[in-house]
Amino acid sequence: MIAAALGFSSLCAANGKEAAMDTFIDRLMEKMTLQEKLGQLNLVTGGDIVTGHVMKNELDSLIRKEAIGGVFNVNGPDKIYTLQRTAVENTRLGIPLLVGMDIIHGYETVFPIPLALSCSWNPDAVERMARISAVEASASGINWTYSPMVDICRDSRWGRIAEGNGEDPYLGSVLGPAYVRGYQGKDMSGKDEIMSCVKHFALYGAVEAGKDYSTVDMSHQRMFNEYLMPYKAAVDAGVGSVMSSFNLVDGIPAAANKWLMKDVLRKQWGFDGLLVTDYDVINEMSKLGYARLPEASVKALEATTDMDMVSAGYLNTLEQSLKSGKVTMTMIDNACRKVLEAKYKLGLFSDPYKYCDMAASKKKVFTKEHRQAAREIAAETFVLLKNEGGCLPLQKKGKIALIGPMADAANNMCGMWSMPCRPEKHMSLLEAMRKSVGRQAEVKYAKGSNVYADEKMEAPANGIRPIVRGNDDELLKEAVAVASEADVIVAALGESAEMSGESASRAFPEIPEVQKELLRSLVATGKPVVLLLFTGRPLVLTEENKEVTAILNVWYGGSEAGEAICDVVFGERVPVGKLTTTFPRSIGQIPVYYNHMDTNRPDPDDSVFNRYQSNYIDESNFPLYPFGYGLSYTTFAYGDLKLDKTEMLQDGEMSVTVNVTNTGDREGTEIVQLYIHDRYASLVRPVKELKDFKRITLKPGESLDVTFVITADKLKFYNAALEYVCEPGDFEVMVGPDSNNLHKAEFRLL
Ligand code: NOJ
Repeated sequence: MIAAALGFSSLCAANGKEAAMDTFIDRLMEKMTLQEKLGQLNLVTGGDIVTGHVMKNELDSLIRKEAIGGVFNVNGPDKIYTLQRTAVENTRLGIPLLVGMDIIHGYETVFPIPLALSCSWNPDAVERMARISAVEASASGINWTYSPMVDICRDSRWGRIAEGNGEDPYLGSVLGPAYVRGYQGKDMSGKDEIMSCVKHFALYGAVEAGKDYSTVDMSHQRMFNEYLMPYKAAVDAGVGSVMSSFNLVDGIPAAANKWLMKDVLRKQWGFDGLLVTDYDVINEMSKLGYARLPEASVKALEATTDMDMVSAGYLNTLEQSLKSGKVTMTMIDNACRKVLEAKYKLGLFSDPYKYCDMAASKKKVFTKEHRQAAREIAAETFVLLKNEGGCLPLQKKGKIALIGPMADAANNMCGMWSMPCRPEKHMSLLEAMRKSVGRQAEVKYAKGSNVYADEKMEAPANGIRPIVRGNDDELLKEAVAVASEADVIVAALGESAEMSGESASRAFPEIPEVQKELLRSLVATGKPVVLLLFTGRPLVLTEENKEVTAILNVWYGGSEAGEAICDVVFGERVPVGKLTTTFPRSIGQIPVYYNHMDTNRPDPDDSVFNRYQSNYIDESNFPLYPFGYGLSYTTFAYGDLKLDKTEMLQDGEMSVTVNVTNTGDREGTEIVQLYIHDRYASLVRPVKELKDFKRITLKPGESLDVTFVITADKLKFYNAALEYVCEPGDFEVMVGPDSNNLHKAEFRLL
């Protein structure tokens, strides 16, 4: 092993101690040639998933040429082991590889997509998911995951909204660190601890018109107050790496933006880990009209970007740029050091094969315990959007018609970015439902429709997980016949897995028309219809909300989703989830989000059009389902707010208490939300901002006083000079079950 060969095993044993690491890396770098150093900066795709134009590289020969510091998206422990062995045994210095993958919601045990996970409002669940992901991934050769994605998004047209925590910076700042803790464990040196990578720094979620790879432009004050917090929280939590985004920031590609990377990330936030570009970003800077590859590589290095994903710009152009004085050896050394530090912290120099224990991989992946955790967590992410007459939970009796293209699509349950998932090993919803009801009820199935009527649209929508197509007229006829015989209809409709995620923008974020037609026909039978909504983004559900009896949004729930859905549908578990992203009433409202600024012309009455006020001629100002919204099988009543004082000093604190009672007849968990509004400030502040929340579980009839503590920290914002301050004056504090249903009180900051 390299550590032993260099005579540093004792230094490695002191892993984590910075001085030991520095000495080890100093000595290693003394031995490295320029090409070996540049090789460390080069990150190459294994080609099992290719998301840009670059095709599969000849990994083996590149490794032997010392031209690679890391690989990513190689699927399979044996393949990874072979690559690692080549790096360790067939190169001069035997430096092990970083091995990355987009494990963003589980490895083979797949958990709900991140947007769904955020709807649990449960950092412990997120951390548990990330821990299990790390256990499975680390046992399969992977030491680096490109997660969490914490891009704030307010536009449901953007497919990657599915990968993040929704629209709120505070919630994103609570959940992002939970991912980091789960993946990295104690300090990422353990056998089952891997390096986390927060992405996409920065602002990727604000791409114009929700179109992927599109442009971004926003004021610095908006960035700091509304978008940057979650990245910073991940950095504060010790994330090992940061991935820069595809988009422009102030007109400069993020990876080359010195102000963003050097001044904000490195200096202000103190990030001293590994900074990697996104896929092919340096190369694509020329298409962007910014710089050709050599110049783009210089700019990225100047911005302290350490690793170049896929472009090979660092590898192939920096030597020349060094000769011509455009970059210095110190800049290259600094970048190389960051790559080596990451490897050192992961313990790869002590044991390059620590993640390649084939026997462990079989024992630790897709275990009963992990699957049970995924099932429990999935059930916490579903959001009950409508439940007329207490239609849900269903009883296990009579005839249930399960209809829809998502009902028997096991290969679609896991959602996007689930490369290692094994659909043949888990159940579809239909299989899970039949198992769940056993002989107590009869489950009749019909597919009912294709995902899209147009085959051409369905192809990209299905991507790598196709659903077999049928003839829409025949499917509809069959479905209506099955539904007409049933006591209750469960419609499993929405988006297929690949309709959200990267490169999955939609101009019409709604259920595709052919499925809507199916739903109309099901409603026309006069039977109660429960819509199980499969989706990776908020959809416009205005019509569905009017027509169907109940809507349970199950997102993409992962490998155990089938059973988790049955747990909730049949009432073994009560829905808990609350939306972390606003559901628009119509497409024209987008972007619509709860924490918007007030207007100088607030609309006095939403029920009519008011000329010269801020409203639409043809649409309400209010979304269909607001941020924070979600029903339960029980009900909760909120009392008035009690403040312990109405004036607070800047270095003091105050408390706000609300009494919450379970007024229904089932035990349930409520997510109590605290919002604040700064009435007058040197920069106009949003109408409300989430500042805290508590999950409480109450038995029927039980009451609890829920107390939140307010300190100056909850009142601070970045002012025009980007100083993080609170300003004396009047504030509103609001508590309630969702952002549109709040009890209010006022206080003054002295
Ligand atoms: C491109 C995506 O934007 C990023 O999120 C991902 O981590 C990389 N490709 C690697 O697959």
